[in-house]
Amino acid sequence: MDVFRIEGPVKLSGSVTVNGSKNASLPIMAAAILAPGKSVLKSAPDLSDITVCGQLLEQLGGKVTRQNNGVLLIDSTTIDNPVGDYEIVRKMRASICILGPLLARCGRATVSMPGGCAIGYRPVDIHLRGLRELGAKIRLDNGYIVAEAPNGLRGSDIFLGGSFGSTVLGTANVLMAATLAKGRTVIESAACEPEVADLATCLNQMGAKITGIGSPRLTIKGVSQLKPFDYEVIPDRIEAGTFMIAAAIAKSRLELKNCRLEDLMAVVDKLREIGVTVESTHSGCVVARSGPVKPADITTQPFPGFPTDLQAQFMALLSLAEGNSIVIEKIFPDRFMHVAELARMAANLRKEGPAVIVSGVKKLIAAPVMASDLRASAALVLAGLAAEGTTIINRVYHIDRGYEKIEQRLNPLGAKIIRQDATGV
Ligand code: EPU
Repeated sequence: MDVFRIEGPVKLSGSVTVNGSKNASLPIMAAAILAPGKSVLKSAPDLSDITVCGQLLEQLGGKVTRQNNGVLLIDSTTIDNPVGDYEIVRKMRASICILGPLLARCGRATVSMPGGCAIGYRPVDIHLRGLRELGAKIRLDNGYIVAEAPNGLRGSDIFLGGSFGSTVLGTANVLMAATLAKGRTVIESAACEPEVADLATCLNQMGAKITGIGSPRLTIKGVSQLKPFDYEVIPDRIEAGTFMIAAAIAKSRLELKNCRLEDLMAVVDKLREIGVTVESTHSGCVVARSGPVKPADITTQPFPGFPTDLQAQFMALLSLAEGNSIVIEKIFPDRFMHVAELARMAANLRKEGPAVIVSGVKKLIAAPVMASDLRASAALVLAGLAAEGTTIINRVYHIDRGYEKIEQRLNPLGAKIIRQDATGV
């Protein structure tokens, strides 16, 4: 098991190119199921979650090959085993988004219920509600979701909201299933996240008839078949946001290339509020901080609000603010595993229900810490850049799920991060 040794504090400078989006790639890979044949996904990041998704498609009977240039070849011609096994699904919750496409293609699907996860309880009831509205019969059997639609799916008007707002993968699942349903489907309270819009754009390239892309009302006119895609995924807005916060926490200036600022307006707004400059360039932006960090309050929300996937990283930054900030988590109220670890690095944090009061400190102090989930781990890396001394992050595999060789991206910019086998520490 690898660990990171991070020397701090450091200054960063230079330019970094943002990779393709993990969370857009995963449902698009699942969309390949809908069209027997050879699909091509460009700019797919080389991450363990993408590898696991590839293994899942292979277990279903497909073939997935990665080329050197970030291109994934997905051959779904021979998908004939519509069963998502617990052994793979438990490694990655996003596996659930094969359910809709399998049901649409094979008329049946058996997919393991995803298990618990470090960011809290994550039910799939809305996914199932939406697929039932399309005519699927669904039951639970021995930890598996068994879905059947022997006579095909039929379009319907579906409300897909829940107590925490819209659902990203739930929208993806129902949207994919509806593309091949008979008649028209309207999804109300659809997730508006750029990753969902990217999936819908790819589905339209495959021959689907989706309108309202990017809005909370998606209208889908069912078609009888789709063709494989040749599609380039959007840049990863969460990776971009993490690099922006890296520039800010290290009191530095970084250029980000291949970054769509329009996907990050809530984050840009908060960065500017706390004294960070963000200037748009033709391919991305330049982010810089020279003065103190001002305190701010953030509340995570569905897009276009502040993303939950940047809450932990922003908290690391606010821990160095001149004053008190409040961070409220409205998507995953238990997504606070990073709080205790940041506190080990001398951050002054107090958790009150789904909120954390961040009392700014003058400096962070390095410590051995434990990565718990993907974004929490990224927050620890950022804190390590600013902290005095050697931060040791255990369980780096969490970071590898969503950031491609992050040390090799940050070190050329001035970071001092060494990856070691745990036994070498
Ligand atoms: N929810 C339900 N029932 C459902 C589905 C969701 O109650 O059937 C609730 C969730 O518990 C949560 C809220 O609705 O409170 C929103 O969850 P959502 O379904 O949108 O999350 P997700 O689709 O499972 C994706 C991303 C997450 C990201 C969230 C929110 C992927 C692979 N995952 O998850 O990304 O945090 O949307 O934006 O796209 C990450 O990349 O680190 C990550 C966790």
